[in-house]
Amino acid sequence: MFVSHLSCPKCQATYESEKPIQLCRCGSPLLVAYDMAKAAKHFSKKDLARRKADLWRYRELLPVKKEENIVSLGEGMTPLLPLKNLGSEINLPHLYLKDEGIIPTGTFKARGAAVGVSRAKELGIRVLAMPTNGNAGAAWALYCAPAKIKAVIVMPEDAPPIPRGECAISGASLYLVNGLISDAGKIVAKAVADYGWFDASTLKEPYRIEGKKTMGLEIAEQFDWKLPDVILYPTGGGVGIIGIYKALMELKELGWIDGKFPRLVAVQSSGCAPIVKAWREKKTESEFWKDARTLAFGITVPKALGDFLVLDAIYKTGGCAVAVDDADILKAEQLLASREGTFVCPEGAATLSAAMQLCRDGWIRPEEKVVLLNTGSGLKYPETVQVSPPVLNPDDRIPADG
Ligand SMILES: Cc1ncc(COP(=O)(O)O)c(C=O)c1O
Ligand SMILES: [Zn+2]
Repeated sequence: MFVSHLSCPKCQATYESEKPIQLCRCGSPLLVAYDMAKAAKHFSKKDLARRKADLWRYRELLPVKKEENIVSLGEGMTPLLPLKNLGSEINLPHLYLKDEGIIPTGTFKARGAAVGVSRAKELGIRVLAMPTNGNAGAAWALYCAPAKIKAVIVMPEDAPPIPRGECAISGASLYLVNGLISDAGKIVAKAVADYGWFDASTLKEPYRIEGKKTMGLEIAEQFDWKLPDVILYPTGGGVGIIGIYKALMELKELGWIDGKFPRLVAVQSSGCAPIVKAWREKKTESEFWKDARTLAFGITVPKALGDFLVLDAIYKTGGCAVAVDDADILKAEQLLASREGTFVCPEGAATLSAAMQLCRDGWIRPEEKVVLLNTGSGLKYPETVQVSPPVLNPDDRIPADG
């Protein structure tokens, strides 16, 4: 394990990493720092060839010390699918989908949960509480079960129903709130203050992001360390995009990649687009988005604690932020299934819609290598597909045109 300390990206304060910790005293999230010189000596690309195809293959860049503390359900090394049919249709022949739809619990949240819960177990945490839009709560509840950590999950009443079942069956305590994730966060903060529980809210602990950063490590490895030009990411709390940027910085420090970073694109829904608004106004922080509403429920985050880090990653890579309408998200979901056979979640579908918009605007050029990040399976969102097939009687026939 090569963790050297925790550091604050806002005020540069540093903290030791062997005790449970939440935010910096200035209120900013903390990030894990590694002794990169030491890591570079002990970890080489060649080591990867012998390792299992899961995210623990990058263990030198992860914060869990002892193997016995690792809680794993086989997460990581998801496929990077070339989207040949769609690519030729929209004149982007080098279009790829990093597909998190087949990971345990059905969304990329499994990565943050695997690393976050393993580290929580290592630090002796017994009870944790988490506000969520559904998928993160489901993943943390399920990973907490084998770690023997009690999980208390609070999600909006309007969140899609499947994560509720995942929380319930894992034995977690589940509460619904008549409000948004920001309201769930306030309720969790009160419980944490009252009972001394660990607060596992987005970016209020430093380890979830380490799990999510493995998406960036995998993309680099899957492209044989020659980076794509653009990565589009559905952005809610922003942990994924911050994590991908952190992964690229660490790979650069290791000397495993060089040249330009991919331009990172934060994709949001026009029903909740605080990062897009801040980017358009060239701001370094976002403002609370009132009346947030989108069917891409995972990205309904009116104000992200790590907004300044998301915006920094966009500015530093020459990226941008794009808002897409719900109707276009549904069209993109259908396009991906009908052309490529992937049933993606609406958050993932939003990235296709954004890529099409950016192509039309000339911001993405046809020769560029472009990665869409599908953060989860469409199977978790059955309500996004309306089906009313004809019902046959046993002696009916199917018409000749199918
Ligand atoms: C399917 C899905 N995609 C994307 C996101 C946004 O995640 P992030 O916090 O990394 O921005 C979420 C968060 O709930 C989600 O469930
Ligand atoms: Zn600070």
